[in-house]
Amino acid sequence: MSSNIVVAIDGYSSCGKSTLAKALAKKLHFIYVDSGAMYRAVALYFIRNNVDSTNHDQIVEALKNIHLNFHSRDYQTHITLNDEEVSVEIRQMPVSDKVSEVAAIKEVRKEMVRQQQRMGKSKNVVMDGRDIGTVVFPHAQIKLFMTADPKIRAERRYKELLPTNPDMTLEEVFENLAHRDYADTTREESPLTRAEDAIVLDNTNLTPEQQLKLACDLVTPFLNKGNC
Ligand code: CDP
Ligand code: CDP
Repeated sequence: MSSNIVVAIDGYSSCGKSTLAKALAKKLHFIYVDSGAMYRAVALYFIRNNVDSTNHDQIVEALKNIHLNFHSRDYQTHITLNDEEVSVEIRQMPVSDKVSEVAAIKEVRKEMVRQQQRMGKSKNVVMDGRDIGTVVFPHAQIKLFMTADPKIRAERRYKELLPTNPDMTLEEVFENLAHRDYADTTREESPLTRAEDAIVLDNTNLTPEQQLKLACDLVTPFLNKGNC
């Protein structure tokens, strides 16, 4: 049996998953995988190439032509789509508005899950997303389900995006998060849901440092030596 450790972090949009996952991976020297970046890169390809999300043949053809690669520099996600660095573009609103539609497609999920499972095979990983503890790694040793007040989440994301999107409004961000949460929790394929054995972490009133401390305390019993 494999003895690698998997920390699965799922939850709603913009509730601090990647902030926690990166910090935890850095502390533990684990690999960090931002599964959302993969769906975002696929959505970007669909937008650029006018792929019809309802056309099976077009979807299959698109997936054959999409090659994703992660380069981790200091635990920041750098993702390439067919050798082009797209890490910044995938965070922009056009992709945020399209991604949940693309992530609901069965063929897309099957391929992304296959790639994610390969990345976590026999390695210590922290992976964040929507279905990591339920579908990608149902046997992960540690599962966290993150949540926070929707208004606080929108304010945090707005603050983060404003420097590169000066025309964006807080309402737009709030709407986007609400729309994605609805689409992600109600879709047929692997909807966002808390795994029965996941620990809920509500960070409405927690700083990134406080949420890291909580997660560290949960992970420590699984480590072979030392603390988190
Ligand atoms: O960072 P944020 O919470 O805004 O989203 P993300 O993690 O980058 O994920 C973007 C979108 O990808 C989500 O709203 C989901 O539609 C989809 N996603 C998914 O379906 N399954 C995952 N494991 C990760 C993301
Ligand atoms: O990955 P996810 O979409 O769940 O969220 P994130 O990108 O980690 O966090 C969204 C924003 O909330 C970022 O700007 C974080 O710095 C911020 N954040 C915060 O202010 N306090 C926390 N406890 C967690 C995240």
